[in-house]
Amino acid sequence: ELGKDCLAGLKVLDIGCNTGEISLAVARHLGARRVIGCDIDESLVEAAISNRDALVESSASAAGGSKASSASKSVTSTGGGSCKVTFRAEDFLESPLQRPPSDEPELFEAILCFSVTKWIHFVKGDAGIRKLFKRVFKRLTPGGIFVLEPQEWSSYKKKRHLSPAIRQTVAGIEMRPEAFDDFLLSIGFERKATIAPPAEGPQGFRRSIRVFTKPAALQAEPLSG
Ligand SMILES: C[S@@+](CC[C@H](N)C(=O)[O-])C[C@H]1O[C@@H](n2cnc3c(N)ncnc32)[C@H](O)[C@@H]1O
Repeated sequence: ELGKDCLAGLKVLDIGCNTGEISLAVARHLGARRVIGCDIDESLVEAAISNRDALVESSASAAGGSKASSASKSVTSTGGGSCKVTFRAEDFLESPLQRPPSDEPELFEAILCFSVTKWIHFVKGDAGIRKLFKRVFKRLTPGGIFVLEPQEWSSYKKKRHLSPAIRQTVAGIEMRPEAFDDFLLSIGFERKATIAPPAEGPQGFRRSIRVFTKPAALQAEPLSG
């Protein structure tokens, strides 16, 4: 059901984009129309911008031209089209819904969230996870898809990650990753697919990917939050 073209033509948000690897792969190889990557860590966003610019420059010099500098740049996709890619340093949990210049709510047709939930859980606990999912719901167009790869509960116990403050937050967690699906369904998402973890590769990275959709026909929602 989820083929290689499942993001083709879509406006995509990549939450926790890190150095931009997934955002740029989606722009280059999956035919997205527009990609915005956000990460709370400014230094990672700077690295993502450099990675994008290196791609733009290599394709511009291959084409014998140069591209104007701007906050958004178009990356050439393997299908022959192009995709505008923007990276933003911001906390998704605090980011505004309405954006200048139009101040209209900024909506996406697909939102990706790979390996981010554990870090939000560590810092903000269950309230942070609930806020994350509600914000994703609000930022999706009706019919939009949410692609989630949560880390498993067993990985929360790795001691090297745990400061005393995080340990305390983890001790208060009631909504473990196994319960995320039920919460997502309770706020209005519908389950579309579950992609089984790969059989090969490092054990810690063999995680299942869940795909949810926001139902196409919904009552108008209030815009706050
Ligand atoms: C383990 S990395 C995953 C990177 C990438 N998504 C991937 O799967 O390869 C988690 C990223 O989430 C970012 N992050 C954590 N909390 C965030 C938040 N509240 N808003 C935006 N990004 C966040 C971290 O800075 C980090 O770059």
